[in-house]
Amino acid sequence: MTTIDDCKVIDFPRIVRPQGSLTPVDGSFVPFDIARVYYLYDVPGGGTRGGHAHKELQQIIVSGMGSFAVELDDGCRRKTVRLNRAYYGLYVPRLIWREIVDFSSGGICLVLASLPYEEKEYIRDYREFLDYKYCNERSIS
Ligand code: TYD
Repeated sequence: MTTIDDCKVIDFPRIVRPQGSLTPVDGSFVPFDIARVYYLYDVPGGGTRGGHAHKELQQIIVSGMGSFAVELDDGCRRKTVRLNRAYYGLYVPRLIWREIVDFSSGGICLVLASLPYEEKEYIRDYREFLDYKYCNERSIS
């Protein structure tokens, strides 16, 4: 059973130079093979995205610019992680309900994902999420 305790902030390397900083991300820092990268941008200040869970997909969520908060919910407990630096990546395993809230104006959310995009992989209804998690996970824990 995945829980919010599995949602960890990874501290990526920082190469800091007077001309600017660089963060490389490769397989040694990410606990899955990266199949896809996407980014959210032009989100109005204070805006919200997400509001879903994934059946199998794992993600790393990074604030490439600005800040936002990720609200995580495993069906029993909740926690909120605020991301505001490009060298922090929040690992989110399968079957965690997440909402990304309180975007700063101009904020950019980068996502590294373990699978290609597939709509049937999403659970967009919270009740369905609880049922799916209960049926697919609780019986084997
Ligand atoms: P969605 O994942 O629902 O965005 P958010 O949860 O951040 O609000 O995606 C929004 C739309 O974009 C939806 O119609 C699906 C589409 N989409 C793709 O076509 N490819 C992708 O890789 C992603 C992430 C979304």
